[in-house]
Amino acid sequence: MILLLAGTMEARNLAGMLAQSGIDCIASLAGVTESPAPYPVETRVGGFGGAEGFEAFLDAQEITAVIDATHPFATEITRRTAKICAARGLPYLRFERREWRSRQGDAWHEAADIADLARIIPPRQRIFLATGRQTVDQMGHLEHAYIWARVVDAPSEPFPLENGAWVVGRPPFSQAAEEALFAELRPDWLVVKNAGGASGRAKLDAARALGMSVAMIARPPAPEGITRREDVLDALEWAEAHA
Ligand SMILES: NC(=O)c1ccc[n+]([C@@H]2O[C@H](COP(=O)([O-])OP(=O)(O)OC[C@H]3O[C@@H](n4cnc5c(N)ncnc54)[C@H](OP(=O)(O)O)[C@@H]3O)[C@@H](O)[C@H]2O)c1
Repeated sequence: MILLLAGTMEARNLAGMLAQSGIDCIASLAGVTESPAPYPVETRVGGFGGAEGFEAFLDAQEITAVIDATHPFATEITRRTAKICAARGLPYLRFERREWRSRQGDAWHEAADIADLARIIPPRQRIFLATGRQTVDQMGHLEHAYIWARVVDAPSEPFPLENGAWVVGRPPFSQAAEEALFAELRPDWLVVKNAGGASGRAKLDAARALGMSVAMIARPPAPEGITRREDVLDALEWAEAHA
């Protein structure tokens, strides 16, 4: 039985391919999104309860290989899983979609991390955050004029920063829809994590079309010495070899 650590569009695609190939697989979601789109394989939801809970799960489900297709910025689950699998001699694959690279006409500014955004974005700017709910509380250092944060589920709590608002929306978004949203809100800056992937690229193409500046937060480094794939078909091939 393969464990697929999920929570990304690519993980859902991979789950579909595994199901079609008849490979036994259980998908795992952290439970961050309230009502995630269903996966075409058996799915469990919620944290494992730390490293001990995770190891107990591996034993109980007789997991023979792990594909970690969590988000490139989900560093804790990746670090821990890679370490535990290495210690147990359990085959582990990190699937991580290719990073975005700027094209001609893009106005990208690289930030090392969230703290570094204040170096890049001048004061009194209108800023659109596409960095996820968890990052909004860390943006207090920005001297913004206005700030929007896009979230999948409508939060029950008020927006945590002054002069700002939630924007509720569930990906994927087309470039046309992103352009229409940006044309309406008129942000000066789009802030994104360098997550990579085809579907998330639409907001970057929309920003280029509208001449918006982009603050691109660099990826945290992946654990060293792990097996990695960037293409879903390559990950499927690995799964077939380890099923
Ligand atoms: N970070 C992002 O920007 C981002 C963006 C989009 C989607 N996501 C998705 O959201 C989830 C949480 O992200 P994060 O950055 O909070 O993760 P994280 O900091 O790396 O992990 C925190 C804890 O969440 C639980 N967890 C994470 N992924 C899990 C999974 N697939 N199945 C079961 N438990 C999981 C684990 O809890 P226990 O210790 O209890 O096992 C883990 O210790 C990930 O699955 C990721 O793919 C993250």
